[in-house]
Amino acid sequence: PIKALLFDLDGVIVDTAIFHYQAWRRMANSLGFDITEEFNEQLKGISRTESLDIILAHGGLVLSDEKKAELAAQKNEWYLELVSQMTPANILPGVTDFFAQVKAAGLKTALGSVSKNARLILERIGMLDDFDAIIDGTKISRGKPDPEVFLKGAAETKAQPDECVVFEDAVAGIEAAKRGGMLAVGIGEPAVLTWADLVVGSLADLTLDEVLTLAPTHR
Ligand code: BG6
Ligand code: MG
Repeated sequence: PIKALLFDLDGVIVDTAIFHYQAWRRMANSLGFDITEEFNEQLKGISRTESLDIILAHGGLVLSDEKKAELAAQKNEWYLELVSQMTPANILPGVTDFFAQVKAAGLKTALGSVSKNARLILERIGMLDDFDAIIDGTKISRGKPDPEVFLKGAAETKAQPDECVVFEDAVAGIEAAKRGGMLAVGIGEPAVLTWADLVVGSLADLTLDEVLTLAPTHR
């Protein structure tokens, strides 16, 4: 039986994925090149430093570690400017309803995010107390697609991997869930999240019953 539901943050609970994209794009533009929304897909679920490396390679730039640290800090500053305007109104459609069903059913919840800003964002949207466990970028040594973040979430909620369902908007996050031996629900496009066991546009399109009767698919 399913015991725990593990949620990614950016793009699943709140639409901060767009803020990450805007801040990275601003940084790329300041360096003289651009990134597209399509390019941005591969950055979802990827840590700040790894994202920076991917973007700099895309722009054909090789920079010193000092310069890279400066750029990562600058991006985070721009990102936090956008985040600072967030309120509970930024919670994505269906999330609040879905959590009410989850709590009523007595299931455990964990956050599984590689973001170091996760607690700050949960505080801003008033959801800090909605998780039994919070695994974020400060608690892991390997980012997605490594399953570490979700395996830690499972352990803290005392669930086995096959008793967990992961909710993810990132290709790397779905891969992390599957590598961890968990069921994965994709939030987004089926054509992008091909490894997910089910893909929906948002949590508003899903009932808890559908999740609890989910069977793994092998695509
Ligand atoms: C993930 C986002 O949740 O967190 C990535 O999908 C982001 O885009 C990563 O790079 C790290 O976030 P932060 O807040 O630590 O820079
Ligand atoms: Mg995400």
